[in-house]
Amino acid sequence: MHMLFVLLFAMSIFSGCTSPPPHRADSEVVKTPTIEMQSFLIQPQHLDMGSVMEGEEAQATLFVRNTGLLPLHIAEVYSECGCTVGSVASQEVPPGGFTTLDVRIDTTAKGEDIVKKITVIDLLGNKEEAWLTLRVKENPHAGDMSGRGIFSGKCAACHVVPAAGKVKGEDIYAAVCAMCHGVEGRGAYAPKLRGQDVDALRLILQHGIDRRMPAFSREKGGPLSPHQIVELTNWLSGLDE
Ligand code: HEC
Ligand code: HEC
Repeated sequence: MHMLFVLLFAMSIFSGCTSPPPHRADSEVVKTPTIEMQSFLIQPQHLDMGSVMEGEEAQATLFVRNTGLLPLHIAEVYSECGCTVGSVASQEVPPGGFTTLDVRIDTTAKGEDIVKKITVIDLLGNKEEAWLTLRVKENPHAGDMSGRGIFSGKCAACHVVPAAGKVKGEDIYAAVCAMCHGVEGRGAYAPKLRGQDVDALRLILQHGIDRRMPAFSREKGGPLSPHQIVELTNWLSGLDE
Protein backbone atom coordinates (compact mmCIF):
# COMPACT_ATOMS: atom_id res chain seq x y z
CA MET A 1 0.00 0.00 0.00
CA HIS A 2 2.72 2.39 -0.83
CA MET A 3 1.86 5.64 -2.32
CA LEU A 4 4.26 7.07 -4.78
CA PHE A 5 4.82 10.75 -5.16
CA VAL A 6 7.10 11.28 -8.04
CA LEU A 7 7.13 14.86 -9.08
CA LEU A 8 8.84 15.81 -12.23
CA PHE A 9 9.67 19.37 -12.91
CA ALA A 10 9.90 20.83 -16.34
CA MET A 11 13.22 22.46 -17.09
CA SER A 12 11.34 25.58 -18.05
CA ILE A 13 10.54 26.34 -14.41
CA PHE A 14 14.22 26.75 -13.80
CA SER A 15 14.79 29.37 -16.44
CA GLY A 16 12.72 31.83 -14.43
CA CYS A 17 14.94 31.43 -11.36
CA THR A 18 18.06 33.51 -11.58
CA SER A 19 18.90 34.88 -8.15
CA PRO A 20 21.79 32.92 -6.61
CA PRO A 21 21.16 31.32 -3.20
CA PRO A 22 22.74 32.74 -0.02
CA HIS A 23 26.07 31.30 1.01
CA ARG A 24 27.84 30.57 4.21
CA ALA A 25 31.44 31.67 4.20
CA ASP A 26 33.47 29.48 6.53
CA SER A 27 36.67 31.44 6.46
CA GLU A 28 37.41 35.08 5.96
CA VAL A 29 38.46 34.82 2.37
CA VAL A 30 38.61 38.04 0.42
CA LYS A 31 35.86 38.08 -2.16
CA THR A 32 37.14 35.83 -4.89
CA PRO A 33 35.27 34.70 -8.01
CA THR A 34 34.89 31.32 -6.27
CA ILE A 35 31.66 32.52 -4.63
CA GLU A 36 29.86 32.90 -7.94
CA MET A 37 31.59 29.90 -9.39
CA GLN A 38 30.22 27.57 -6.75
CA SER A 39 26.49 27.68 -6.33
CA PHE A 40 23.62 25.27 -6.40
CA LEU A 41 19.90 25.09 -5.77
CA ILE A 42 17.39 22.51 -4.60
CA GLN A 43 14.18 22.55 -6.57
CA PRO A 44 11.53 22.99 -5.59
CA GLN A 45 12.48 24.67 -2.35
CA HIS A 46 9.08 23.94 -0.90
CA LEU A 47 7.22 20.82 -1.92
CA ASP A 48 3.70 19.89 -0.86
CA MET A 49 3.61 16.09 -0.92
CA GLY A 50 -0.16 15.87 -0.41
CA SER A 51 -1.49 13.35 2.08
CA VAL A 52 -0.86 9.72 2.97
CA MET A 53 -2.35 7.27 5.44
CA GLU A 54 -0.38 6.89 8.64
CA GLY A 55 2.10 4.03 8.33
CA GLU A 56 2.65 4.51 4.64
CA GLU A 57 5.85 5.74 3.11
CA ALA A 58 5.77 8.98 1.19
CA GLN A 59 8.24 9.54 -1.58
CA ALA A 60 9.30 12.56 -3.57
CA THR A 61 11.95 13.49 -6.05
CA LEU A 62 13.67 16.87 -5.90
CA PHE A 63 16.40 18.28 -8.08
CA VAL A 64 19.80 19.61 -7.12
CA ARG A 65 21.01 21.98 -9.80
CA ASN A 66 24.51 23.22 -10.25
CA THR A 67 24.05 26.91 -10.99
CA GLY A 68 27.77 27.66 -10.69
CA LEU A 69 30.60 27.60 -13.18
CA LEU A 70 32.59 24.80 -11.57
CA PRO A 71 31.66 21.16 -10.95
CA LEU A 72 29.54 20.59 -7.82
CA HIS A 73 30.59 17.91 -5.35
CA ILE A 74 27.75 16.97 -3.01
CA ALA A 75 29.15 15.93 0.34
CA GLU A 76 26.06 15.29 2.44
CA VAL A 77 22.27 15.13 2.42
CA TYR A 78 20.49 15.14 5.75
CA SER A 79 17.28 15.81 7.63
CA GLU A 80 16.72 16.33 11.36
CA CYS A 81 14.97 13.03 11.93
CA GLY A 82 15.71 9.42 11.14
CA CYS A 83 12.27 8.89 9.65
CA THR A 84 13.34 10.86 6.59
CA VAL A 85 16.09 9.79 4.25
CA GLY A 86 17.43 11.51 1.20
CA SER A 87 19.91 10.34 -1.38
CA VAL A 88 21.24 11.84 -4.57
CA ALA A 89 21.61 9.88 -7.78
CA SER A 90 25.04 11.36 -8.37
CA GLN A 91 27.47 13.18 -6.10
CA GLU A 92 29.18 15.00 -8.94
CA VAL A 93 27.18 17.51 -10.97
CA PRO A 94 28.69 19.38 -13.91
CA PRO A 95 28.08 23.13 -14.33
CA GLY A 96 24.55 23.70 -15.60
CA GLY A 97 23.60 20.11 -14.82
CA PHE A 98 21.41 18.54 -12.17
CA THR A 99 20.98 15.36 -10.21
CA THR A 100 17.87 13.92 -8.61
CA LEU A 101 17.40 13.83 -4.86
CA ASP A 102 15.08 11.05 -3.69
CA VAL A 103 13.38 11.60 -0.36
CA ARG A 104 11.43 9.02 1.62
CA ILE A 105 9.42 9.77 4.71
CA ASP A 106 8.24 6.98 6.98
CA THR A 107 4.96 8.03 8.61
CA THR A 108 4.71 5.17 11.11
CA ALA A 109 3.26 6.49 14.37
CA LYS A 110 3.09 10.02 12.98
CA GLY A 111 -0.33 11.21 13.90
CA GLU A 112 -0.03 14.72 12.58
CA ASP A 113 1.11 16.79 9.68
CA ILE A 114 4.78 16.69 8.89
CA VAL A 115 7.13 19.49 7.91
CA LYS A 116 10.64 18.35 7.07
CA LYS A 117 13.77 20.20 6.18
CA ILE A 118 16.22 18.56 3.80
CA THR A 119 19.74 19.98 3.74
CA VAL A 120 22.32 19.43 1.03
CA ILE A 121 25.96 20.40 1.68
CA ASP A 122 28.73 20.50 -0.89
CA LEU A 123 32.41 19.79 -0.29
CA LEU A 124 33.11 23.50 0.29
CA GLY A 125 30.50 23.70 3.03
CA ASN A 126 27.89 25.57 0.99
CA LYS A 127 24.45 24.65 2.24
CA GLU A 128 21.02 24.62 0.60
CA GLU A 129 17.71 23.69 2.15
CA ALA A 130 14.32 22.50 0.93
CA TRP A 131 11.08 22.07 2.85
CA LEU A 132 8.62 19.24 2.47
CA THR A 133 5.12 19.23 3.86
CA LEU A 134 2.91 16.18 4.18
CA ARG A 135 -0.49 15.60 5.73
CA VAL A 136 -0.89 12.34 7.60
CA LYS A 137 -4.36 10.82 7.76
CA GLU A 138 -5.29 8.60 10.62
CA ASN A 139 -5.23 4.95 9.60
CA PRO A 140 -8.42 3.23 10.86
CA HIS A 141 -6.67 -0.12 10.72
CA ALA A 142 -3.47 0.81 12.52
CA GLY A 143 -2.49 -1.26 15.50
CA ASP A 144 -4.01 -4.45 16.81
CA MET A 145 -7.61 -4.92 15.70
CA SER A 146 -8.15 -8.23 17.45
CA GLY A 147 -10.65 -7.84 20.22
CA ARG A 148 -12.34 -4.87 18.58
CA GLY A 149 -15.72 -5.29 17.00
CA ILE A 150 -16.15 -3.90 13.50
CA PHE A 151 -19.50 -2.35 14.46
CA SER A 152 -18.29 -0.36 17.44
CA GLY A 153 -16.87 3.11 17.85
CA LYS A 154 -15.06 4.61 14.91
CA CYS A 155 -15.24 1.36 12.93
CA ALA A 156 -18.97 1.88 12.43
CA ALA A 157 -18.46 4.80 10.05
CA CYS A 158 -17.26 2.37 7.40
CA HIS A 159 -18.51 -1.05 8.52
CA VAL A 160 -22.07 -0.11 9.57
CA VAL A 161 -23.24 3.25 8.26
CA PRO A 162 -22.85 2.48 4.53
CA ALA A 163 -25.62 -0.16 4.79
CA ALA A 164 -28.19 2.42 5.88
CA GLY A 165 -30.96 2.90 3.36
CA LYS A 166 -29.62 0.26 0.97
CA VAL A 167 -32.46 -1.88 -0.44
CA LYS A 168 -31.02 -4.10 -3.17
CA GLY A 169 -28.98 -7.13 -2.14
CA GLU A 170 -26.19 -6.17 -4.49
CA ASP A 171 -25.90 -2.69 -2.96
CA ILE A 172 -25.94 -3.98 0.59
CA TYR A 173 -23.18 -6.41 -0.30
CA ALA A 174 -21.05 -3.69 -1.88
CA ALA A 175 -21.55 -1.45 1.17
CA VAL A 176 -20.66 -3.78 4.05
CA CYS A 177 -19.44 -7.16 2.77
CA ALA A 178 -17.21 -6.54 -0.25
CA MET A 179 -14.44 -4.92 1.82
CA CYS A 180 -13.73 -8.34 3.34
CA HIS A 181 -15.23 -10.90 0.92
CA GLY A 182 -14.18 -9.24 -2.32
CA VAL A 183 -16.09 -7.91 -5.28
CA GLU A 184 -19.19 -10.02 -6.02
CA GLY A 185 -18.27 -12.62 -3.43
CA ARG A 186 -15.05 -13.66 -5.12
CA GLY A 187 -13.08 -13.75 -1.86
CA ALA A 188 -10.36 -11.52 -0.45
CA TYR A 189 -9.40 -11.20 3.23
CA ALA A 190 -12.43 -13.41 3.95
CA PRO A 191 -13.60 -16.56 2.07
CA LYS A 192 -15.45 -16.43 -1.22
CA LEU A 193 -19.22 -16.47 -0.91
CA ARG A 194 -20.38 -17.79 -4.25
CA GLY A 195 -22.57 -20.85 -4.68
CA GLN A 196 -23.82 -20.82 -1.08
CA ASP A 197 -27.11 -22.07 0.23
CA VAL A 198 -29.58 -19.30 1.08
CA ASP A 199 -30.57 -20.76 4.46
CA ALA A 200 -26.95 -21.18 5.53
CA LEU A 201 -26.25 -17.58 4.55
CA ARG A 202 -29.22 -16.33 6.56
CA LEU A 203 -28.15 -18.29 9.61
CA ILE A 204 -24.65 -16.86 9.49
CA LEU A 205 -25.89 -13.29 9.07
CA GLN A 206 -28.32 -13.71 11.94
CA HIS A 207 -25.93 -15.34 14.40
CA GLY A 208 -22.43 -14.70 13.11
CA ILE A 209 -19.52 -17.12 13.25
CA ASP A 210 -16.94 -15.50 15.47
CA ARG A 211 -15.47 -12.11 16.21
CA ARG A 212 -14.04 -11.82 12.72
CA MET A 213 -17.42 -12.56 11.17
CA PRO A 214 -19.92 -11.12 13.66
CA ALA A 215 -23.72 -11.31 13.41
CA PHE A 216 -24.96 -8.65 11.01
CA SER A 217 -28.59 -8.81 12.11
CA ARG A 218 -30.03 -5.87 14.01
CA GLU A 219 -31.29 -8.03 16.88
CA LYS A 220 -27.67 -9.09 17.53
CA GLY A 221 -26.28 -5.58 17.30
CA GLY A 222 -25.45 -5.59 13.60
CA PRO A 223 -26.41 -3.09 10.89
CA LEU A 224 -28.91 -5.10 8.80
CA SER A 225 -32.70 -5.19 9.07
CA PRO A 226 -34.55 -8.51 8.52
CA HIS A 227 -35.63 -7.25 5.11
CA GLN A 228 -32.09 -6.33 4.11
CA ILE A 229 -30.91 -9.81 5.13
CA VAL A 230 -33.54 -11.39 2.87
CA GLU A 231 -32.54 -9.22 -0.09
CA LEU A 232 -28.86 -9.76 0.48
CA THR A 233 -29.02 -13.53 0.88
CA ASN A 234 -31.34 -13.92 -2.13
CA TRP A 235 -28.85 -12.04 -4.30
CA LEU A 236 -25.78 -13.82 -2.88
CA SER A 237 -27.20 -17.33 -3.24
CA GLY A 238 -27.92 -16.58 -6.88
CA LEU A 239 -24.21 -16.09 -7.70
CA ASP A 240 -22.90 -19.22 -9.32
CA GLU A 241 -19.69 -20.76 -8.11
C1 HEC B 1 -12.43 4.76 6.90
C2 HEC B 1 -13.20 3.56 6.77
C3 HEC B 1 -12.92 2.42 7.71
C4 HEC B 1 -12.87 2.44 9.08
C5 HEC B 1 -13.08 3.63 10.01
C6 HEC B 1 -12.59 1.08 9.49
N1 HEC B 1 -12.49 0.28 8.40
FE1 HEC B 1 -12.10 -1.69 8.40
N2 HEC B 1 -12.03 -1.72 6.38
C7 HEC B 1 -12.28 -0.64 5.57
C8 HEC B 1 -12.01 -1.00 4.20
C9 HEC B 1 -12.15 -0.10 2.98
C10 HEC B 1 -11.58 -2.35 4.22
C11 HEC B 1 -11.12 -3.18 3.02
C12 HEC B 1 -9.63 -3.41 3.06
C13 HEC B 1 -8.85 -2.15 2.99
O1 HEC B 1 -9.04 -1.36 2.08
O2 HEC B 1 -8.01 -1.93 3.90
C14 HEC B 1 -11.62 -2.76 5.60
C15 HEC B 1 -11.26 -4.03 6.03
C16 HEC B 1 -11.31 -4.45 7.34
C17 HEC B 1 -10.97 -5.76 7.78
C18 HEC B 1 -10.48 -6.91 6.91
C19 HEC B 1 -8.99 -7.01 7.00
C20 HEC B 1 -8.32 -6.11 6.05
O3 HEC B 1 -7.43 -5.34 6.48
O4 HEC B 1 -8.62 -6.15 4.84
C21 HEC B 1 -11.13 -5.79 9.12
C22 HEC B 1 -10.88 -6.97 10.07
C23 HEC B 1 -11.57 -4.48 9.53
N3 HEC B 1 -11.66 -3.67 8.41
C24 HEC B 1 -11.82 -4.10 10.82
C25 HEC B 1 -12.00 -2.79 11.23
C26 HEC B 1 -12.06 -2.37 12.62
C27 HEC B 1 -11.95 -3.31 13.82
C28 HEC B 1 -12.22 -1.01 12.61
C29 HEC B 1 -12.29 -0.07 13.80
C30 HEC B 1 -11.14 -0.16 14.69
C31 HEC B 1 -12.27 -0.60 11.23
N4 HEC B 1 -12.14 -1.70 10.43
C32 HEC B 1 -12.44 0.70 10.82
C33 HEC B 1 -12.68 0.61 5.97
C34 HEC B 1 -12.67 1.05 7.29
C1 HEC C 1 -14.52 -7.33 8.62
C2 HEC C 1 -14.52 -8.38 7.63
C3 HEC C 1 -15.81 -9.03 7.24
C4 HEC C 1 -16.97 -8.43 6.82
C5 HEC C 1 -17.23 -6.94 6.66
C6 HEC C 1 -17.88 -9.49 6.49
N1 HEC C 1 -17.31 -10.70 6.71
FE1 HEC C 1 -18.14 -12.51 6.38
N2 HEC C 1 -16.47 -13.43 7.10
C7 HEC C 1 -15.35 -12.79 7.51
C8 HEC C 1 -14.37 -13.78 7.92
C9 HEC C 1 -12.98 -13.51 8.44
C10 HEC C 1 -14.98 -15.04 7.73
C11 HEC C 1 -14.37 -16.40 8.06
C12 HEC C 1 -14.72 -16.69 9.49
C13 HEC C 1 -14.26 -18.04 9.93
O1 HEC C 1 -14.33 -18.98 9.13
O2 HEC C 1 -13.86 -18.11 11.07
C14 HEC C 1 -16.29 -14.77 7.20
C15 HEC C 1 -17.19 -15.78 6.89
C16 HEC C 1 -18.41 -15.55 6.28
C17 HEC C 1 -19.28 -16.60 5.83
C18 HEC C 1 -19.01 -18.08 5.91
C19 HEC C 1 -18.23 -18.45 4.66
C20 HEC C 1 -17.69 -19.86 4.65
O3 HEC C 1 -17.60 -20.38 3.53
O4 HEC C 1 -17.35 -20.35 5.70
C21 HEC C 1 -20.36 -15.99 5.25
C22 HEC C 1 -21.56 -16.66 4.62
C23 HEC C 1 -20.14 -14.56 5.36
N3 HEC C 1 -18.93 -14.33 6.01
C24 HEC C 1 -21.02 -13.61 4.89
C25 HEC C 1 -20.82 -12.23 4.98
C26 HEC C 1 -21.74 -11.25 4.46
C27 HEC C 1 -23.01 -11.56 3.67
C28 HEC C 1 -21.24 -10.04 4.80
C29 HEC C 1 -21.85 -8.68 4.61
C30 HEC C 1 -23.13 -8.50 5.25
C31 HEC C 1 -19.98 -10.26 5.49
N4 HEC C 1 -19.76 -11.61 5.58
C32 HEC C 1 -19.14 -9.28 5.97
C33 HEC C 1 -15.12 -11.42 7.54
C34 HEC C 1 -16.04 -10.47 7.19
